[in-house]
Amino acid sequence: MKKDAKKPSKYVARQPDEQGFIQYSDIEHQTWQRLIERQLKVVPGRACDEYLHGLELLDLPHDRIPQLEEVSSVLRRETGWEVARVPALIGFETFFGLLADRKFPVATFIRTPEEFDYLQEPDIFHEIFGHCAMLTNPAFANFTQKYGQLGLNATPKERAYLARLYWFTVEFGLINTADGLRIYGGGILSSPKETLYALGHEPERYDFDALDALRTPTASI
Ligand SMILES: [Fe+2]
Repeated sequence: MKKDAKKPSKYVARQPDEQGFIQYSDIEHQTWQRLIERQLKVVPGRACDEYLHGLELLDLPHDRIPQLEEVSSVLRRETGWEVARVPALIGFETFFGLLADRKFPVATFIRTPEEFDYLQEPDIFHEIFGHCAMLTNPAFANFTQKYGQLGLNATPKERAYLARLYWFTVEFGLINTADGLRIYGGGILSSPKETLYALGHEPERYDFDALDALRTPTASI
């Protein structure tokens, strides 16, 4: 999720050239490749079927960062969603407005090799690999739009509650399936460490209860 638009970011989202093409360096493409190949090893059998199906539909390249239009064309066809290029950090108003319009915000930068395992700000790998597969699922796509509509009409206090709900679902949600517990949260599925941890013995897991989620402060929103 996007956070405080006032907080300075060390990353700058890339602008497209006149043909609408975003250029990345070889190192940035290699970072994508290392991230996607590492993550594809851990998501089978751990992510929910809807997510894995979405990944198949997206058919993301391994050796280069995809252009946003490649992702948008699949989302448009499946659920009428798109991805939208945004600066590294955006405010809540913009964030909810985009979701309400079936547009998922993506900051077009990728983490530096020094921050390969963890970075504070959501980069293009997190947004596309973590979140876009679920947006090919009609029920999830509708839920996310509804979330944006509610957020647009919410007071600042209500928005803080909505941010918690997002944290416990879109970012870190797990789901019980006939085959066992699976992951659908993009914050988990874009990190190998989180993917293994979330289904392991260490974390305390609770059945989803909307009120509990709304009442539980999160580390960050
Ligand atoms: Fe996210």
